[in-house]
Amino acid sequence: MENFEQRHSGERAILVSVSVQQLDDLDAEEFRLLAQSAGAEILEHITVPRNRPDPKFFIGSGKVDEIAEQVQYLEAELVIFDHSLSPAQERNLERILKCRVIDRTGLILDIFALRARTHEGKLQVELAQLKHLSTRLIRGFTGNLEQQKGGIGLRGPGESQLETDRRLIRVRITQLKDKLVKVQQTRLQGRAARQKAAIPTISLVGYTNAGKSTLFNILAKSDVYAADQLFATLDPTLRRLEWDGVGTVVLADTVGFVRNLQHDLVESFKATLEETLEATLLLHVIDASSPNMSEQIEAVETVLKEIGADAPVLHVYNKIDISGDAAKIIYKTAELPERVYVSAHSGQGLELLSEAVQQCLMGQLQHFDLTLKPAYGKLRNQLYTLNVIESERYEENGDLHLTVCIAPHKLEQIIKQAHLPLDEILGNKASIFQRPLEEFEIQHSSL
Ligand code: GTP
Repeated sequence: MENFEQRHSGERAILVSVSVQQLDDLDAEEFRLLAQSAGAEILEHITVPRNRPDPKFFIGSGKVDEIAEQVQYLEAELVIFDHSLSPAQERNLERILKCRVIDRTGLILDIFALRARTHEGKLQVELAQLKHLSTRLIRGFTGNLEQQKGGIGLRGPGESQLETDRRLIRVRITQLKDKLVKVQQTRLQGRAARQKAAIPTISLVGYTNAGKSTLFNILAKSDVYAADQLFATLDPTLRRLEWDGVGTVVLADTVGFVRNLQHDLVESFKATLEETLEATLLLHVIDASSPNMSEQIEAVETVLKEIGADAPVLHVYNKIDISGDAAKIIYKTAELPERVYVSAHSGQGLELLSEAVQQCLMGQLQHFDLTLKPAYGKLRNQLYTLNVIESERYEENGDLHLTVCIAPHKLEQIIKQAHLPLDEILGNKASIFQRPLEEFEIQHSSL
């Protein structure tokens, strides 16, 4: 982290948000945290009321002049916009403001770059940054051509430099993609081996700054970098540990989520979230002390949906030492916990967390006897791929009897997705999927 401090300490920045109405508190706070995470020293946060973006500057030219004065007066080195700017808008703004201008995507990529620690994370970030940069160079290039009408014969050294840059970027992007494929294959092999050994994976997810790394450290007794900054973690950091009453599990820490994460960024970083996609259980860590708690929960749920994570979720309300909540478990059904209240700092509720995870995991895997008609071979293949078949035997009539050990929700999901009849395959046990869920709460005494 020393480099980070040196490189970024004191980059004097003015923040600009554009909003139709008054700026939402959560948006404003998140933007400031993001900028601080990237190491900016915030000189001023300017809100520009505007309905539609201006094609040339994103904001009106009068406002640009005002900001230019502020840049000079405050000696700012950087202006950060909380929006996506087109490459042309960035250039036009830089010309008038006479300092560097970056947009929200550039800011987030910068933070990712600072935080990436594993080889794969670094490759992912470099790839995303180059892609972001290449659109800027390519459009910059056409922009120049347009300005120099009838450009033939007028191609100066500047342009050929751009051509070279573009070519180098393309070469580097190809190299990075090749490397990433290899790194991912190695990681997939690791995951396949874990799945074969039926080791459950627990992924910590949550809004940025919720306390995931702190909790991860306590649970894994490791020293992942935890700091009061956004994205203190980028790569899913994995630890294999013994969980009381469960046995060996793999714990994965993941990158913090933010609101309005552009879709292309979610795509770029999906690989870093793959452990989340494949987890047996997600621990959604929530900052119970945040005034914006419900919006943050919603933001995380939206991203989880967007990346297609469908594992069961246990909500972990963290920081109860400052929120004032009592350590407790709240149950969804008699055996299935929905929430647990803890403090990674004071240690309150950590035993309850251990108990709740145990209940979630144990409640998840069940034995089922399945009867599959010969036409349902595809379902058998899927179960085989998931490595959940314990035994199989053919009947004389060609039906296949399988015993599987699998989470009920997963079984239900794959049978339904294959449009096959639950009753026929599961017999009496199909009824467990029609069971209504009762809501009730069991309070545990504070630890
Ligand atoms: P990102 O990597 O940005 O997504 O953050 P994170 O969710 O991993 O959060 P991290 O563990 O870095 O914690 C963020 C801040 O909250 C740090 O300053 C922690 O010390 C603090 N923190 C974490 N858990 C608790 C807690 O239980 N109580 C209090 N008071 N502070 C906590």
